Amino acid sequence: MKIITPETILSPAQQLSGMSIAFDTHIRAIGPLHELLEQFPEAEFIETPLHSMVMPGLINPHVHLEFSGNKSTLKYGSFVEWLYSVIEHREDIIQGCDQQCMAKACDDMLRSGITTFGAVSSYAMDLETAANAKQKVIFFNEVIGSQATMADTLYDDFMSRLEASKQVQREGFQAGIAIHSPYSVHPALIKRALAHAKVHNLVTSAHYMESPAEKEWLENNSGEFEPFFKEFLKQDYSVNTSKEFLELFKEKPTLMTHVVQANDEELKQLSKDGHSVIHCPISNRLLGNGAIDLERLDANSVPWVMGTDGLSSNYALDLFEEMKIALFMHADADLMPLAKELLASATSKSAQALGLNTGEIAVGKEADLLVIDLETTPNEQLPLHLLLHGYNIKKIYINGNEVS
Ligand code: BEZ
Ligand code: FE2
Repeated sequence: MKIITPETILSPAQQLSGMSIAFDTHIRAIGPLHELLEQFPEAEFIETPLHSMVMPGLINPHVHLEFSGNKSTLKYGSFVEWLYSVIEHREDIIQGCDQQCMAKACDDMLRSGITTFGAVSSYAMDLETAANAKQKVIFFNEVIGSQATMADTLYDDFMSRLEASKQVQREGFQAGIAIHSPYSVHPALIKRALAHAKVHNLVTSAHYMESPAEKEWLENNSGEFEPFFKEFLKQDYSVNTSKEFLELFKEKPTLMTHVVQANDEELKQLSKDGHSVIHCPISNRLLGNGAIDLERLDANSVPWVMGTDGLSSNYALDLFEEMKIALFMHADADLMPLAKELLASATSKSAQALGLNTGEIAVGKEADLLVIDLETTPNEQLPLHLLLHGYNIKKIYINGNEVS
């Protein structure tokens, strides 16, 4: 058992002072030090800086480790132009990022306080790295392919990657399934993959309504995607409409990434079917997809969480940076409530969406903790200052083990 006595506990945006935390793999008790000492007289004390704060480790449910080699190769500004650039440079980017390069991406995430991540894997090149990472991992094997003639081959390839990830026997590592998007996956493939996910109780994720081009293609079979599909895939219309796509997910609550372009009817459907949204503000900005309307998500009772997306559409894998950008992107929102909501969306709400017993400083939760040096005694605007100042993370615990 360990006992830590920070000046402040923040969970996820509620402040508590004068309390200690007793934990081993899980948080066992929170209370005044003398009470915890009576309960756990043998406990080891953890030293902390004078103005220390303990908060839950951050959860990043959406990253593409295999694309960590991109810095300035891909073209930003418009989604379809970016997609053309991905197709042109995919090989060099992927070959240019070896295990060491992907391990650095995991270490960078850890150093910025991310104790759990969801890795969307296209080719399983990142399996070994994710299996060896210090963090908890949901390894989302991706299904992609809109051509019916290719469906069986693609499904077999997906299943072999999925089976390989299921072989990883490491605490905190679990296999999941990612459906690429409504425009890029044939409905027959989606059905088979989701049926498997339901039977085996696997977490699922999908990109959905990311760009104006996607919306136009799904709704009217026109726009910037029209020449793209004609040229590359000889297709004149989308393999799924938005409605048909959501229909396939009816009985499988899923983390839907981006959702910037969804209308009210679609948001209502997401809420009704128990889905969550992953908000990746930096990626949305860089790919010209606009800013999600968080108020509309809240008004339609759609839970949303924060994600970084990959280095293919971001300059960092850092949720503190992502929350700070979101704070400025959603400039009409009241400042303090937004700062608090952002912190919850990167911790407790993500844990809930992924079905994990973490993301909070509460008795019974897994002990995934950040010890942060606030330098001075915090005031009631701590949630805001935490996003603004990039305070030093002094120690990181995952399942009660010090990992950094
Ligand atoms: C496809 O495989 O059909 C596809 C992949 C990426 C973007 C669009 C379509
Ligand atoms: Fe993504």
